[in-house]
This record gives sequence, structure tokens and C-alpha cells, in this order.
Amino acid sequence: MIGSSEIKKILYGGDYNPEQWPEDIWEEDMRIFKLAHIDILTLNVFNWAMLQPDENTYDFRKLDKIMNMTRDNGFKVFMATSTGAHPAWMAREYPDILRTQANGVRRKYGRRHNSCPNSPTYRKYAAALTEQIARRYAEYDNIVAWHVSNEYGGICYCDNCEKKFREWLKKKYRTIEAVNHAWNMNFWSHTLYDWDDIVAPSLITEEFEASGLRTAFQGISLDYARFNSDSMLECYKMEKEILKKITPHIPVSTNFMGMYKTLDYQKWSKELDFVGWDNYPEYNDEPAEIAMRHDLMRGLKQGQPFALLEQTPSVNNWHTICRLKRPDVMRLWSFQAVAHGADTIMFFQMRRSLGACEKFHGAVIDHVGHENTRVFREIEALGSELEDRIKNLILGSRMKSQIAILFDWDNWWAAEFSAGPSRSINYPKEVMQYYKAVYNLHFSVDIVGVEDDLSNYKLVIAPLLYMCKEGYDKKIRKYVKCGGAFLTTYFSGYVEDHDLVVTGGYPGRLKDILGIWVEEIDALPLEEANSFLYSGKKYPARIVCDLMHLRGAKELAHYESDFYAGMPVVTEHSYGEGKAFYVGTRSSEEFYRTLINDIAKELCIAPIAHAPEGVETTVRENENGSFLFLLNHTQAKVIVSVERAGQDILTGKEYLEGDNLEILGAGVVILQRRCQVVAEGVSGNWEAETKAPKADGFF
Ligand code: GLA
Ligand code: ZN
Repeated sequence: MIGSSEIKKILYGGDYNPEQWPEDIWEEDMRIFKLAHIDILTLNVFNWAMLQPDENTYDFRKLDKIMNMTRDNGFKVFMATSTGAHPAWMAREYPDILRTQANGVRRKYGRRHNSCPNSPTYRKYAAALTEQIARRYAEYDNIVAWHVSNEYGGICYCDNCEKKFREWLKKKYRTIEAVNHAWNMNFWSHTLYDWDDIVAPSLITEEFEASGLRTAFQGISLDYARFNSDSMLECYKMEKEILKKITPHIPVSTNFMGMYKTLDYQKWSKELDFVGWDNYPEYNDEPAEIAMRHDLMRGLKQGQPFALLEQTPSVNNWHTICRLKRPDVMRLWSFQAVAHGADTIMFFQMRRSLGACEKFHGAVIDHVGHENTRVFREIEALGSELEDRIKNLILGSRMKSQIAILFDWDNWWAAEFSAGPSRSINYPKEVMQYYKAVYNLHFSVDIVGVEDDLSNYKLVIAPLLYMCKEGYDKKIRKYVKCGGAFLTTYFSGYVEDHDLVVTGGYPGRLKDILGIWVEEIDALPLEEANSFLYSGKKYPARIVCDLMHLRGAKELAHYESDFYAGMPVVTEHSYGEGKAFYVGTRSSEEFYRTLINDIAKELCIAPIAHAPEGVETTVRENENGSFLFLLNHTQAKVIVSVERAGQDILTGKEYLEGDNLEILGAGVVILQRRCQVVAEGVSGNWEAETKAPKADGFF
């Protein structure tokens, strides 16, 4: 990426809002940031009101000062376009900028991320502001990337959106008959006669709320979810095109939110020069859950390093319980991000704000105003580790995984809009169960989308693949035929891209690959469970139980009770050179672990390391060697036996094979194992033989 050759370390910094403060404090900020080894600042995220106080006036005086000050002090800037919250005058003059809620109520001026993505006013003024900013600061060579808007999200149901929805559908379906077919509109006498009969699906039309958004017509709601995501993407693209025209050399991105349902990040990421995201775990999120979000974000750009664009140094303001990060946890979670592919570590926020809802959100500089705080000391310590220890060693490194887990936004929307068989079907949770098993077994894993190549993987796990999109069955068929192992679960293969059922028996398009026929689906109340034996151990069968028949597959386990006792629940099918596995129910993580371990053994997939429970392991590799991350998420000291000699780059300590490596509670070890560089038959000195690392990250 452009600009990357100058970047020699993991960038460290965060969101800085000096415009909210009197100017006489700014120099003090500069001093304190330097103490903390901060080198990058995200600027100008929410300044629209200041930059454009009315329709015809732009005022850059303050931002100029901020830009000059940060440049003079040697900071790199991740420069935002300020279009994440519109000014009050715009709402006053042009109500089309205001969003309409699912209940049909048009909002008034308030909050942020508040503009209708299809408002002509929003698009006009957002484009104009972006152009002004890009032209004005084009020559600032410390701008290392553009940050478009902020955390795009939400849904609008206004009349403009409805009109645009019709146009979007016209492009997609061409005729109203095709729409009627795709949405199965013969049902409940819904036949549409004209494009104008189409309305946005909302709480005043097809949708209703009963523990989550539900809908009478999945096809309509699904297309609206796609349309809404596309509408926001258009806004992003509009700004991106302006920025690229004026500063083609500066990468463009925005901040994602991890596993965020409303936007199809797999589609979005194609338009981003790099992926960056904001990591705000709840106090009781498990490390595996955070790890999975990182892996999802890394997978969006096929493994390219990503940026951790926001995390709190200490505490959040918007969770139900805003618990402090315990000592060393900020460091641990920062390295966790790096362990999963981050090449940038950033915070929200640099100075704790005085008023409004983020005044109790953690910050680099607290309300007390000086650096003598526990939180600052941790920030400073991490800053110096990044600068003195990690340097450029890890930049641009990649992970090599033999296991992939599929994640697909269309499938997420469709599976959860579905009426039946159980409201307890939760796509991310299901994926998480499998992810946790893989994580706890210490296998390296990538999260892939339906467009990603599978040929480098030995095992592909696609939990709850309810919607098997056009062509995806072919991809899996080919993959398995060529020797791949594929594992999927209950509620898979049912529908095609429009949520229309694939007839001829479940699991639809996947039937032949799996060698089974699911005749019926039973749903169990949460307090009930069936069971099955696998490898001599009893495991639970919950939520949904498939009643299936073997059609070429072999049974690995069967139900123990109910009228379908004896029917298969876990199967294996040899198909071509490969195998397809099916788990017809929700079981326990322990079962998934056992099954995946058995499959992995057969496939000769080796774990990253043998480490105790609670210790997370990943490996990143580049020209400098392979970096084994050992992250101790427990409070207790643990011992890991070193399997391959290396040096902990955080302490400089060398470890030989067989050594006992001690990791303190919440501690981190990054073991650099050098590549064996063989040049013309001579096993040379790796340092001399390897090229200087390129930071092919994003900035
Ligand atoms: C989000 C936003 C920031 C800030 C933080 C607070 O990630 O992007 O502007 O509001 O949350 O956690
Ligand atoms: Zn709208």
C-alpha cells in the first residue's frame, strides 16, 4: 500500500478531538502523547457543524490549526471526513436528511450516524464537504489514510429510501413478475401489479418485533437488508471517489464494528483499501469471541493485515456494565489484535470529553489532566514495547490456516428472518460454537466468505448454511471432490438466494455432497435435550434435531431417545477424494472439539502449539520468521513447553526446544522462530539472507 514503505512500526494512537477543548490545552496534549509513544491521530470525525456552520459557509480555521499543530509535532493523521453526523441547520432546512424509523416515525434532529443514506441533501453536502477537506489538506504528507464518515450503520425506512428501493429492485429483477416470483407473492394474495406497489418492509408493513425483527415476507426483508447496506455503501463510495480523485496516493477506509449484522462487510470490504475495526468487548465476552471478530475482520481482505482503529484503554461508556479493564488486559487485548493480524493499535479517545455521553469513556488523558494514572502508565508501557521491541518485525505478516470457517451476511439475515423451526437459531452463535472448538484446539483458522477460494484449506466448516447461494454448492462439490473435508450442520441448504426453498428434499443443493436426506426437523424447548453417543461419550442434542436418512453417508452417531431414537444425527460421507460431515443438531462445544479433533487428525492438521486451557495461540509469518503468539487469558501463571526454539521479542529471552516457558497471568509471549533460509544449497544466516521486511499493511 502507498505510504507503507515509510512506516517502520505498528502505528499507535487514537481518536483525538481537540476542537472540543480550549486551545491552550493542545500543547499539553502533544507533550503527553509523545510520552506515550503515540504516532498517529484520527482527526476530524465529528466536525461538520464546525466546518460548515451554514449552507454557504465553510470555516476551516480551527481545523487548519489542528492540522498544523499535529504535523509540526510529527504525528501521522488518519483523516476523517466528518460526515458521520449532520449539522442542525441541515435538519432544520432539509428534513429529507432525517431518517425514518422502522415504526414509521420520522426522527427529529439528534444523536449521530443519523442521516438517511438516500437523502439527496445528505449526498450533496457530504460530497461537497469531502471535496473541501480533500482539497484543503491534500498537501499534508502526514495524512496516511482517509477515514470516511464513521461506523456506518442503522436502517432508514423513509419515502426516499422506499423509492430508491424500487429502483434497486428494477435493476435486480427487471420485471415485476420476477419480483413476485422471487418473493413468492402468491402467498397471502400479495401479488404486486406495479413497481409502486412495493413498500419498504417495516413495522408498519411486513415486519414485526417479537424478540428481534421478524417478517412475514423473508424475500422482501432480505432484499431490503441488502438494499440498505448497498445504500450506505454508495455513500461511502461517493466520498471515496472524491478522495481518490484528489489524493489518489492516500488509502481510503472506514471503521467497521466486527460482527455487525446490518452491513454486508464482505461486500463493503472490496471498496476499502484496508479493513479497520472498533473492538469493544463486553466485560464478560470470552477471549474466543473477541478472537473470532478479529478473524472475521482479517478474512474480509483475504488475510491482509487489518487495523485496530478503536478500543478503550480502560472503560467503556455504553455497555450495561462498564467494568474497568483489569491491569494488563489492555495490553493483552492489544496483542490479541496483533496476534490475529492487526498492524495498527488505536484507542478511542485521546482525551476524555467534558460533557455528553462519552465523558466517562476511557481515554489516554483522563479528566485529571496529567499522565500520572494507572491507565496512562499502561498505555505508555505498551507504546514503548511497540517502539523498542516489536518495531517492524511483525508488519505485513500473514497467518497460514488449514481450516476455514464460512461466514456469510446474506445467510445471517435469511436464517434469522426465517419463521421456524426455532427462534433460538442464532447464526453467529452457531458459528461461534465451532470457532471456539477450533480455537480451543489451537488450530489456526481463517474466516472466509462465499467468494473466497477454498483450495488452500483442508477443512471447511460452514455452520448453519441455511442459504446455499447460486453456485456455492458447486464450489463445495468441487472442493470435496478434490479431497477437501467439509462440515456443515442442521438448517443448511434449505433455500436459494431469494429465500425460496430448494425442493426435492433437505438439505437441498447440499444433499448429494452430504449423502443424506433430512425428512423432518424437530425443534426442542430450551430446557430439553436429546442425546447421542460419540466415541463412547454422551453428548446433548438441542434446539433442533434433524430426522434424517442415510443416502450414501455413514452414521457416526444416532439419537438415543424420542420417536426418532436410532436415527442418525452425525454423519460422514466419502465424496470424490474428500469427505463431507453433517451434524444434525446443536450439541456442546466439547462435542465439536472432539469431532473436529478427530477430523483434523485424519487430515494431519497440526495444532499451532500445545498450550493449557485459557492460553490463546496464533502464528503470523513474514520474512522475519514465524511469530508464535501465546496469550494467557487467565489470571494464573502458566507453563508452556517450547516445541520449537525461538526468542521472545518482548523480553529478548531465548528458548530452546523442550524448555519450560512461563507466562504470567494476563501475560504475552511472542516467540520469533527464524525462517530457515536456504540460498543455493547453503543454509545461511537468516538475518543476512532475508530481505528487509516490507510493511505491506494499509497505511
Ligand atoms: C464508536 C465510535 C466512537 C466512539 C466509541 C465509544 O466506536 O466510532 O466515535 O463513540 O464508539 O466507544
Ligand atoms: Zn431514508
